[in-house]
Formats: sequence, structure tokens, C-alpha cells
Amino acid sequence: MRQNIVAGNWKMNNTLEEGIKLAKEVSAILTANKPNCKVVLGAPFIHLTEVVKAVDSSLVGIAAQNCANKESGAYTGEISASMVKSTGATYVILGHSERRAYYGETNALLKEKTDLALANGLTPIFCIGEVLEEREANKHFEVVKNQIEEALFHLSADAFSKIVLAYEPVWAIGTGKTASPEQAQEIHAYIRKVVADKFGASVADNTSILYGGSCKASNAKELFANPDVDGGLIGGASLNAEDFYGIIAAF
Ligand code: PGA
Repeated sequence: MRQNIVAGNWKMNNTLEEGIKLAKEVSAILTANKPNCKVVLGAPFIHLTEVVKAVDSSLVGIAAQNCANKESGAYTGEISASMVKSTGATYVILGHSERRAYYGETNALLKEKTDLALANGLTPIFCIGEVLEEREANKHFEVVKNQIEEALFHLSADAFSKIVLAYEPVWAIGTGKTASPEQAQEIHAYIRKVVADKFGASVADNTSILYGGSCKASNAKELFANPDVDGGLIGGASLNAEDFYGIIAAF
């Protein structure tokens, strides 16, 4: 059966010291209150080595928020998947809408990043989702299908089965507007069908599909109660250990 996952995405927040403190706080809360789901913290690159050490790895996995689309070499400022892996991080968030919108990341580029993440034994948390105009034009199904098709359909079923998907409607990210439980269930079921049609029912059944976008303790329970919502990718509410735990406790 697929795993329920609550993953934090710290984005560009926290100094190294603050990040270590937050990771320790989350780990301590989970040591006292064993979670009923997998918990992941998505930290900035420079935090990875230290936050890996700061948490109980049986309770908390660590994710990078990006990796390069090249293996190694003369790419000043880039961080490769093998470098991420060498820190002890085991996940990498790919294709976040902020990377797509502000850094021009295309499905073709994300295909390369996904291949390198998988080749280096990292679990991609692959983000998809439509902007407001696309939702209003009723194009959200088409948009997410296209994102999956162009970046992930070249994979074998075996390789695809190592991927976690995160549906994040861009209009809900950091806006305080959340998709309703019905909207989330509808598109998560659709995403699972897209996966099933390509990779088979068993791969689709085993794929964790997370919801992201203004998810917090007060709405997590009703979102996660949907059969096709297998947890959340959490931005703002992951920056405080108690708030983040409130979401984890929804499972
Ligand atoms: P948010 O961010 O929870 O602050 O809306 C979610 C995300 O961008 O992953």
C-alpha cells in the first residue's frame, strides 16, 4: 500500500542555526508522539548535512528542494543529485511551481533532473499544478496531465514507482486559499488515473499523491480524509514545529 507522507518545504527560510533548531524540535515532538505517516523536511542545500544529523532518521527523512540537471562539472552555483545524496538526504523536491515560474524550469528540464535524482537513489517529490487562469478556464486536468506526461512518461513503471507526486494548485500556494476537499479529491483521482493508464493500476495504487497549498492543522484532516490524498507538501506551516506537528497529527 502507498505511504502517507507529510513533507515540509522550508523554501528560502531559516539560517543554518535556525534550521537545525527547527529540525531538532520536529524530531523531538515525533519521538514523544510517534507519527502515523512518513515525515520529511525539505531544507535549503546548505542545511542538509546538519539537519540529517539533527533528526532521528527512523522518524524524519530529509529532502533537498532542487537539484541540477547535469551530473557534474562546470556549472557554477549548481548542486548535483549525487552531492545531495552524499549529505544523507534521501528525497528531492522537483518542479515546484516557484522553480517553474521564477527560474524557468520546463518539463523537459525536469525530466533530466528526475532521471539524475533516480539514478542517484533519491526519491523525487515531483510537483505539478495549475495557475488560477488555467483552473478558471477548466484546463487544470489538461495541465497536470501534460506536466506528468512530458517529465515522467519516459520512465519505466519500475522507475516511476519510486516517485512521489505533489499536486499543488499555484493559486493556493502561500495565499491562504486552499483547494476544497472535493476539488483536491477530484484532481488527485484524475492524476491517479493518468498514472494508471500509463503505468498500470498497481503502480498507480502505490503512488503517494500529496496535496500542497495553504495546508495547515485546521484543514489537513479533511483534506487527508480523501481516498486519493496521501498527505501534504507544506510550506508556511512547516516553519514552526508545533504547527507542522498539527498537520502530521491529522493522520
Ligand atoms: P504553502 O506552500 O503551504 O505555504 O501554501 C506549499 C508549497 O509551496 O509547497
